[in-house]
Amino acid sequence: MKPVQLLNFAAVLVFGLLVGHQCSKPEPRKPAATPTAAASVAVPKTTQTSQSIDALRRGADLGTEPEALPLARVENTDIKRDRAYPMQPPTIPHAIDGYQVDQNANRCMLCHGQANSAQFQAPPVSVTHYMDRDSQVLAEVSPRRYFCVQCHVVQTDAKPLVANRFTGVDDLLATPTTAKE
Ligand code: HEC
Ligand code: HEC
Repeated sequence: MKPVQLLNFAAVLVFGLLVGHQCSKPEPRKPAATPTAAASVAVPKTTQTSQSIDALRRGADLGTEPEALPLARVENTDIKRDRAYPMQPPTIPHAIDGYQVDQNANRCMLCHGQANSAQFQAPPVSVTHYMDRDSQVLAEVSPRRYFCVQCHVVQTDAKPLVANRFTGVDDLLATPTTAKE
């Protein structure tokens, strides 16, 4: 393509995008006609008003500031939760207050590194934590697995803000085929 043709092409593209954008203005969001699973969990029906559009607002009108929920309590019980699917990063069954993870130190690896895990009776990080993106196993925790709380979260007693209909593979397998949609 010659430079002039390229310019023309670019101009037409930009124009097309602009026009397209104008035309596809989203419709104003309507409140769901039938209360969805999400709404029925988080928002008691009595407090739901016509202005309520978001289960996360817990039924508060758009003009009002909903009161913040109390901070969730971290469960420091050492009781592991189920993993919903095989590659889910397990949730953390203990408090992690003050555990330093930065350039100088990784407190988590003190217990979860392969070397010390027996001493602290902590499950060692799996081999995936030592792999780089080409699946080469490194001697130390891989940079992409260094910041543990990127993927692992502490367990709290917080109630889910919205419902979800996720069904784990074990439940799916247990469901008789006829019952599936
Ligand atoms: C003082 C040692 C220690 C430190 C530091 C520590 N842990 Fe743990 N961790 C444990 C032990 C022990 C367990 C086993 C369950 C239990 O006893 O709480 C565990 C369990 C876990 C599990 C659950 C593993 C599974 O298979 O379900 C995760 C995830 C985890 N820790 C992540 C972290 C992260 C992230 C950090 C840093 C923010 C951290 N831990 C810091 C000792 C430690
Ligand atoms: C990029 C996301 C990610 C990061 C960052 C990460 N993990 Fe994980 N972790 C996972 C996933 C996914 C699993 C489960 C599958 C697996 O073992 O790879 C897991 C599993 C674990 C387990 C259980 C191992 C087992 O064999 O059951 C422990 C303990 C753990 N991680 C600790 C840590 C610690 C400590 C760090 C920080 C040094 C860390 N993780 C950083 C994603 C992550």
